[in-house]
Amino acid sequence: MDRLTSVLFFAGFLCFALAFTLSCVYPWAITDARHPEASIPELAKGVTGEFRRLKEEFPVEFAANYRRANEALTERELTGVAADDPRRAKSEEAWQTAYAKALRDGRDIYVAEACWHCHSQFVRPVANETQRFGEVRTAQHYNTALDRPVMWGTRRVGPDLTNEGGLRSNDWHVAHLHDPRSTSPGSVMPAYTWYFHEGWQVRRRIDPVVAEREGLDAARAYPFPGLYETEAAAKSAMDAVGASLPQSLEAEKSRLFVEKAIGPSSEALSLIAYLQWLGTYEPAEEPAR
Ligand code: HEC
Repeated sequence: MDRLTSVLFFAGFLCFALAFTLSCVYPWAITDARHPEASIPELAKGVTGEFRRLKEEFPVEFAANYRRANEALTERELTGVAADDPRRAKSEEAWQTAYAKALRDGRDIYVAEACWHCHSQFVRPVANETQRFGEVRTAQHYNTALDRPVMWGTRRVGPDLTNEGGLRSNDWHVAHLHDPRSTSPGSVMPAYTWYFHEGWQVRRRIDPVVAEREGLDAARAYPFPGLYETEAAAKSAMDAVGASLPQSLEAEKSRLFVEKAIGPSSEALSLIAYLQWLGTYEPAEEPAR
């Protein structure tokens, strides 16, 4: 009996050692010189809509993290600007620089927080996994600088994140990172509150007549994008909002106020940019031989 347990022990150990070696060798073996790895600046050429939206949704944090982001104009700011206007090219370049930084920072945070300990990035072509997690990715999809170190993971406490990009809104990710139970009751994912900070936000109380008519809660205050570090900065942002109101909406001015609030830090935005990137990379077609 003693002999049997020793044999089983060593067989188990060998299986573990084999799996361990293969997970080192296989990622290395799938890369070759014929298909050079896509660098981060190359990947950043495909700025996602979600990343562009972050600038409108969280303007203060966005500007703080991406120095050149203020040169990057949003779609709305570019309406009416001619296709060959140099501002378009300059703006696009600023977007790509900001996006490259966000992706790199986001990936680094994903590694540092050991998100990979609970999430895989590998849809297996078995057991109808595609129905739950989306498309199976090929070796070429993983041939990017953002996939170094390889983020396949070994455990699935949470769902596979291979095709996470575009699945949820930025807002959802913000709420989920701050308190996973708020979006997913019973979730065992930890709350990443250290990627959030306190600040001051401009808010607007809803017009009681409109609330009554639309069946909305009159006690609710609607936030404006942007979380300012000081009350004074938020107040001046509030004054700017007030000054931009047309005469007909003069009454709205009295409904504006500033209040303490919690919002994502620039690190959280980078992490979200990375999550929204997952699964969006499409490698170029294999050249015909
Ligand atoms: C202790 C394990 C654990 C860790 C560590 C963890 N998660 Fe999760 N995660 C989960 C579980 C369980 C779920 C499913 C329930 C839910 O939505 O919260 C989940 C869900 C998610 C989802 C939603 C997927 C979807 O679309 O349904 C995202 C995105 C996510 N995690 C990102 C992260 C990131 C980013 C980190 C690291 C900062 C992280 N997780 C760390 C366990 C974990």
